[in-house]
Amino acid sequence: MSVIIKTPEQIEKMRIAGRLAGEVLTMIAPHVKEGITTGELDRICHDYMVNVQKTIPAPLNYGAAPGRPGFPKSICTSLNDVVCHGIPSDKKKLKKGDALNIDITVIKDGYHGDTSQMFIIGEPQEHMERLVDVTRECMYLGIQQVRPGAYLGDIGAAIAKHAHSNHYSVVEEYCGHGIGEGFHEEPQVTHNSIAGTGVKLQEGMIFTIEPMINAGRKETKLKGDGWTAVTKDRRPSAQWEHTILVTKDGYEILTLREGETSPLA
Ligand code: MF3
Ligand code: CO
Ligand code: CO
Repeated sequence: MSVIIKTPEQIEKMRIAGRLAGEVLTMIAPHVKEGITTGELDRICHDYMVNVQKTIPAPLNYGAAPGRPGFPKSICTSLNDVVCHGIPSDKKKLKKGDALNIDITVIKDGYHGDTSQMFIIGEPQEHMERLVDVTRECMYLGIQQVRPGAYLGDIGAAIAKHAHSNHYSVVEEYCGHGIGEGFHEEPQVTHNSIAGTGVKLQEGMIFTIEPMINAGRKETKLKGDGWTAVTKDRRPSAQWEHTILVTKDGYEILTLREGETSPLA
């Protein structure tokens, strides 16, 4: 197995899938308020994907394996100390001060778009806002490394440098990934790596960059549901994700939302 170089026709389909994934986040944003449950957020997103966009929610039933159920919902909702793959629930009502990641993956015409963002409920506490903002900067610093001839390791090196200089840690058990007709393709995009190492980037590669940054220690543990990853020390974790195309002279963010600008600009 190796990294798939997408054709211009495949890239055009990935642009459409990416835009649609971003549009689900834009649609759900005004609903992310104190008192709503993550189960309700899941249903609103599911209905929008299936009925309005005519997309397939990629997480639903994804990843079933012997001894492990497929993911039971259409989006991932990861709250506070949940690192990733949180399962939406009618028991999880959002409250003031919560930090929530919503991760959307749609399939359109056989191609995947994958993106996530953080929301803070109510007036943010300063330590949470800082974790969320630094994590977004980490993602953009990683994205800025992308161009033909750069190395995959350059991305995780830039991310880890910024996280560590802010006294945060970088999750290592979960990574970004190639994406296309498959949800998770090669290569693995690690978020703590060494510059100049790993796969050399080529025009036409498409992968996600999705750093999970912890306020405390980097270790995670898996909950009994087989999906929810939490920080071992139960301190908060933040994550942002975009799907990125390697272009002739740099990158294109396929999941960029309308009006979204880089915090580094
Ligand atoms: N969207 C996640 C990612 O960024 C994967 C979710 S898999 C699921 O790779 F099964 F939990 F939905
Ligand atoms: Co992803
Ligand atoms: Co995702």
